[in-house]
Amino acid sequence: MYGRAWGKLILCGEHAVVYGYPAMASAVDRGLEVALSPVEGPTRLVGGIADASLRMAMELALPEYGVAMRISSTIPQGRGMGSSAALSVAMVRAAIAWQGDCLPEASLVFRRSLALERVFHGNPSGVDNTVAMSGALVYFKKGDAGMARSITPDGPIPLVVLDTGLYSDTAAMVAAVKERASSSAHIFRRMGQLVDLAVGSLHDHAALGGIFDENHSLLQALGVSAPELDELVALARASGALGAKLSGSGGGGVVIALAPEPAGRRLLRRAMARGINAFTVSQPTTPQPVGLPD
Ligand code: MEV
Repeated sequence: MYGRAWGKLILCGEHAVVYGYPAMASAVDRGLEVALSPVEGPTRLVGGIADASLRMAMELALPEYGVAMRISSTIPQGRGMGSSAALSVAMVRAAIAWQGDCLPEASLVFRRSLALERVFHGNPSGVDNTVAMSGALVYFKKGDAGMARSITPDGPIPLVVLDTGLYSDTAAMVAAVKERASSSAHIFRRMGQLVDLAVGSLHDHAALGGIFDENHSLLQALGVSAPELDELVALARASGALGAKLSGSGGGGVVIALAPEPAGRRLLRRAMARGINAFTVSQPTTPQPVGLPD
């Protein structure tokens, strides 16, 4: 039995989304697969060592005995590209298939995968799970007035990803932002406005690049950037990118640069010459519709 899910990049609105403001995030052409097969004895991970969080997630999602779980992934781990949300969604999908239910409701997968994501990250907004499930470009807002809808851009969004090589600890970053949340309301509010502007600027890459830049400044003001992230943002801009920002929870992880050609190739060349892991991503071609999570 298999369960699959997509990786993601947050284009605008990370952290503010935890406080009820909108975010825009895109699935990328990288994914994760969980394969379950029968085994004698206690349920276990094959081909790797389960850390405490993964052990707990397996206890929640899978039967206690009789299941061997194997994970294959092309999503970089701990870089803000949604590997744990993809793992949560893929585990839930595989577990539902294991129980013999073929077509689970999207809201059921959302609820169960969010419960697993809490094991990894404490207080997730749900945006990562929504994108991991749908493979779409998504406008997402959590809470009672929450919503998730897929957006169809006019054309591809030319993104280059630059990896700091540093672990991005989502639980720690979200907890650190919580400490200063009451004095950061004006930052969250502006991030939410930027998301709405970004949705209307998907066809206008110059405007969208300016939104990335302002979003990065706000994330710096929120205290979640790092010198390594700021250096990659500067490299992207100096290479002709129209805008760049950290993506995900910060502290480490990746920067995304909006870099149409020829800036994209120039940026990749310069990054590689400096030994930085850099790559392009595209949006998957077969996204699923996004439903409103219950
Ligand atoms: C992490 O990918 C995005 C954050 O906004 C946390 C969340 O929304 O759960 C930092």
